[in-house]
Amino acid sequence: MLELGRLEDLPPHYRQALAEHNLVPLWPSLRSLLPPRKPQPATRPTHWRYDALRPLLLEAGALTPIDKAERRVLVLANPGHGLEKMQASSSIYLGMQLLLPGEIAPSHRHTPNAVRMIVEGDGAYTTVDGERCEMQRGDLILTPTGLWHEHGHDGSDPVIWLDVLDLPLMVYLEASYVTEGAPQTVNAAGGERAYLRGGVAPSPLFRRSERRYPMLRYPWAEVRTALLALHATEPAIDAVQVAYINPETGGDAENVLGFSALMLRPGETLTLPVRSPAAVFHLIEGSATAVISDQRFALSEADTCCAPGYTAVTLTNASAEAPAFLFIADESPLHRKLGVYEVCADGL
Ligand SMILES: [Fe+2]
Repeated sequence: MLELGRLEDLPPHYRQALAEHNLVPLWPSLRSLLPPRKPQPATRPTHWRYDALRPLLLEAGALTPIDKAERRVLVLANPGHGLEKMQASSSIYLGMQLLLPGEIAPSHRHTPNAVRMIVEGDGAYTTVDGERCEMQRGDLILTPTGLWHEHGHDGSDPVIWLDVLDLPLMVYLEASYVTEGAPQTVNAAGGERAYLRGGVAPSPLFRRSERRYPMLRYPWAEVRTALLALHATEPAIDAVQVAYINPETGGDAENVLGFSALMLRPGETLTLPVRSPAAVFHLIEGSATAVISDQRFALSEADTCCAPGYTAVTLTNASAEAPAFLFIADESPLHRKLGVYEVCADGL
């Protein structure tokens, strides 16, 4: 591939004349915009340890009252993008949020799509689109674009959850904003129960739901049971993995980011296909090792790590006796919609 001219090869008066007219020469930047053969992600393999993060998050609870924080969150920032950018990958934002007993987060809605994965604590709830969703460890709760949501906490201990949003993408698109609203009237609870039996969906008088997001809470107890059932039914399957889906359409649960749960069998080592989207791994239960490119991370419960796209990822269950369970978020719905989704059959 030809070596192209550099900016400093151009005479100063020419560069100045270009800048005065808001013009930029393409050729000095062409190779970084269109690198040969594969992208050069800024996203770096990164590990966020829960035992390091948790005391700092609890300290934030003492240092900053909720009315001075609105959302008491420590952002899991990827140093490859610069910590100030507050993004885990090009399109994924991760934040660990603390809600103390009696605190609320007022009703609001925003353009970014969000989910929360509950990490610890009991007694908190999120009301989404008028439906009260209890928050228990490992539960996944959707707050998709445009749906009103608010959080409350009736329990006695701190509640912590992991927020996963497509915020960096929405900011890049200059489409990110929030609207605050009045407290919601709760008119439903436990709506997910209507969809908890595979193969059947509500059809009153032969009508199917037309809600864009018919299921808002995915209880961990049910997802865990589904993984164990899959393992029992197909013990030789190449990966014990389930996707969080819209139960009416069978498609992705949300528009931009995709979510799945993976069970690593005792002692199992699993090499994931090399794919274009970046991915995030959060250990719900057990202990595991993640090898991402040339980085090796020992994951304890509630640890989180991320992998750039086009990168080899190998996961190993560190226990020979107990299964390990991971929550995975990735950018695959976005890549598929954009037509750039790729599985690299020959690796890299
Ligand atoms: Fe929100």
